[in-house]
Amino acid sequence: MTSKIHRYMSEAIDVTFDAKRCIHAAECVRGLPAVFDRNKRPWAQPGNAPADDVAMVVGRCPTGALHFERNDGGEAEPIAGENTIKLVEDGPLYVRGNVEIRTVSGETVSKETRLALCRCGASANKPYCDNSHLRIEFQDAGKLSANRKAVAEQGLLTVAPLPNGPLLLRGSFELYSTDRQTSYHGTKAELCRCGGSRNKPFCDMTHRRIGFTDADEGIAANIQPLEFPN
Ligand code: SF4
Ligand code: FES
Repeated sequence: MTSKIHRYMSEAIDVTFDAKRCIHAAECVRGLPAVFDRNKRPWAQPGNAPADDVAMVVGRCPTGALHFERNDGGEAEPIAGENTIKLVEDGPLYVRGNVEIRTVSGETVSKETRLALCRCGASANKPYCDNSHLRIEFQDAGKLSANRKAVAEQGLLTVAPLPNGPLLLRGSFELYSTDRQTSYHGTKAELCRCGGSRNKPFCDMTHRRIGFTDADEGIAANIQPLEFPN
């Protein structure tokens, strides 16, 4: 999960960028083209817009590839009150909230507010998505058969990738189907990340049958990262 973080500075606000976690050219370049332009160098120029606008657009980045730090005393990045997980059709899980990635033995690996988690099994940057679902033509409509609504609770959501197995979720969360018509409230779940479950998004132990492994070897060489160079 190691990655190089690029920093783009301005007087009022700095923007950081983790290219390995960027999987689509959408919210940033569309939201603020004067700041985020893949054809310019540097591709991110936070001084080209008011800091509040930069912060707002960075906050829309669904993968957490972008973050900001204010130098002008402006408000730090907000943490969503409710932990939400959206199933992306044929793609990853988009997670927002107060989230920690942990090892199964409980050590905190990273603290997150926005992230895209692999659920096709092929990412070379597990547990994060790296767009490999496109290469392997992963298919899942992002539907939820279970509909369980409850009053939203605030608190920490921990996500622990079980070695060669599912994502273990602990803490209050709201899981949404792609069309947002169905939601499932839970405080504990095992979500499939091998791509093979017949009960997606939940794990049904198919990972054992198909011999799912965390190992990245043999996958990384085929990846064409969507990188925005300096
Ligand atoms: S930085 Fe974030 S918002 Fe911009 S293209 Fe990458 S994933 Fe999308
Ligand atoms: S991780 Fe996919 S079925 Fe268990």
